[in-house]
Amino acid sequence: MPPFVSTFLATAANGHEYHRVMRTSARYDGLADWYDDFVRSEALTSVALQALERLVGPGPGRCLDVGCGTGIAFPTLAALDWAVVGVDVSADQLAVARDRAEAVGARLVHADASRLPFPDGSFDAVVSLLTHTDFDDVSSVLGEAARVGRVGSRFVYVGIHPCFVGPMIERRAEAPHLLHPGYRRSGWWENASGPVRSRVGVNHIPLAELVNAVIGAGFRLDGVEEPGDEDDYPMLLALSAVRLADRAPSNGHTTGRRA
Ligand SMILES: C[S@@+](CC[C@H](N)C(=O)[O-])C[C@H]1O[C@@H](n2cnc3c(N)ncnc32)[C@H](O)[C@@H]1O
Repeated sequence: MPPFVSTFLATAANGHEYHRVMRTSARYDGLADWYDDFVRSEALTSVALQALERLVGPGPGRCLDVGCGTGIAFPTLAALDWAVVGVDVSADQLAVARDRAEAVGARLVHADASRLPFPDGSFDAVVSLLTHTDFDDVSSVLGEAARVGRVGSRFVYVGIHPCFVGPMIERRAEAPHLLHPGYRRSGWWENASGPVRSRVGVNHIPLAELVNAVIGAGFRLDGVEEPGDEDDYPMLLALSAVRLADRAPSNGHTTGRRA
């Protein structure tokens, strides 16, 4: 069992406090079946998948899905003719992803996305869906996403809109939404509400920091979308970018290891 999983299990079994759990990465272990039901039933998921489909475009080639979870994006990517590799830090999420992976011939890799076990330039596209609020170190993950993408390959991120969805934002159906203080407080919030975030917490990253992290990783941003209901503030942010030839090495991992 990889150290990050045993750390999480030991911590949880010992009944340590919530913030201890927050510092580990496999927060979805024990929640994967519940998460899969939830993400499948959410209307927002189809909006996110449509944005992903539009922005990544057709293959062929190898496409890495970073933080693939239960593999909700696999059918969309495979239908676009991508050969999918899904990577996630949660063994339980990957166990639920297995059927979806088998159905489309996707490969699953259990690893921390801030230390990807793939060689430099080994993917023709890299995507990630609904993940930045779960990564401990978004810059490291983006650096690794850039490292494993070949020069000129596409990177697409579709996530929760940091300006309009977050621990300091009260979205209300029948009244104006409320923006409470705290937008600029980057980092883990442990008292978040909502079905997913009350369980796993949320790493809030202000918009400029998130976009700058994508640019800083070595991507040229060439598309930004705020998909969703035209009559409401957007819940999603979608970023499309191209892997540049010149980029700083990430985390010192300039030569990846094969999984
Ligand atoms: C909200 S879920 C999104 C899953 C999937 N992309 C989807 O759209 O349903 C976030 C995922 O990121 C994964 N994750 C968090 N930190 C990670 C890391 N450092 N490396 C790999 N995966 C990570 C979690 O295990 C979880 O499956």
